[in-house]
Amino acid sequence: MLPEVSAVRYVTPLREGGSVPGIVEADDLGTYVAKFTGAAQGRKALVAEVVSGELARRLGLRMPDLVRLDFDPVIALGEPDTEVQDILKASGGLNLGMDFLPGSVGFDPLAFTIDPAEAGRIVWFDALVNNVDRSWRNPNLLMWHGKLWLIDHGASLIWHHNWPGADASEAKPYDATDHALSRFLPDVAAATEDLAPRVTAGLLDEVTALIPDEWLVGEPGFDTPDDVRQAYVHVLAARAETIHERIVLSGPPRKADPPPEWLRTWVEGKAK
Ligand SMILES: Nc1ncnc2c1ncn2[C@@H]1O[C@H](COP(=O)(O)OP(=O)(O)OP(=O)(O)O)[C@@H](O)[C@H]1O
Ligand SMILES: [Mg+2]
Repeated sequence: MLPEVSAVRYVTPLREGGSVPGIVEADDLGTYVAKFTGAAQGRKALVAEVVSGELARRLGLRMPDLVRLDFDPVIALGEPDTEVQDILKASGGLNLGMDFLPGSVGFDPLAFTIDPAEAGRIVWFDALVNNVDRSWRNPNLLMWHGKLWLIDHGASLIWHHNWPGADASEAKPYDATDHALSRFLPDVAAATEDLAPRVTAGLLDEVTALIPDEWLVGEPGFDTPDDVRQAYVHVLAARAETIHERIVLSGPPRKADPPPEWLRTWVEGKAK
């Protein structure tokens, strides 16, 4: 099970996120980015965060820690924005927390360089979980202490919005032409060799066991939460075998122009 904490203070909404996550402090003295069940994206976005995020971590990609976050809307009664209030009031009980990375900056493909091996691992992973939310317009990557961290997997596993069509989705290409890291010559072949054999049924069982039952009960077409977990395992195991054949990276790849000196110094200073 993911560690469980309780929110004790609602600090502020993060308005740049479409689901309006919030920063909260918890009873373990930690600060978390809270993803709320009451947001428009619903509980499936949180399932996707857990499955993809914990899978990424086990494949050696950098991911902030995730926790089960107990939230009592009473602690946020001072939040003046009525749209935010509506989300918070609809989110009493179990939500998802992601460790807040203080001083991190959003990844900008024009300001940082990522080596082809790391870019390849992230592109392959995003293809595996069908993440459609890592474009250069909205990278959902943070630089923290000079390293690249993955965040925001709520829009991954898109087939879970239509389980009857999930198997067919395996045959579709993964278009990475707009991917935030496509310009860094991602070495997808090396990533496939390294990562694909590690996505075993055992690993996927371990990851899906971390999804709270509460977010799986009542899924149409399934009798129990474990049946839904097995459906995730089945689709991901199948994708791991062949997804590399369907990753579309249009060529010739564009190499980033070096950023101006003032921008590089400023960004590197912020990322330390
Ligand atoms: N762990 C973290 N540490 C620091 N900042 C974070 C963290 N997670 C998210 N953020 C900041 O909050 C913003 C919104 O978070 P996130 O992208 O997860 O929300 P979202 O609602 O799913 O966004 P989107 O609009 O991309 O769907 C991020 O772009 C980033 O600036
Ligand atoms: Mg985001």
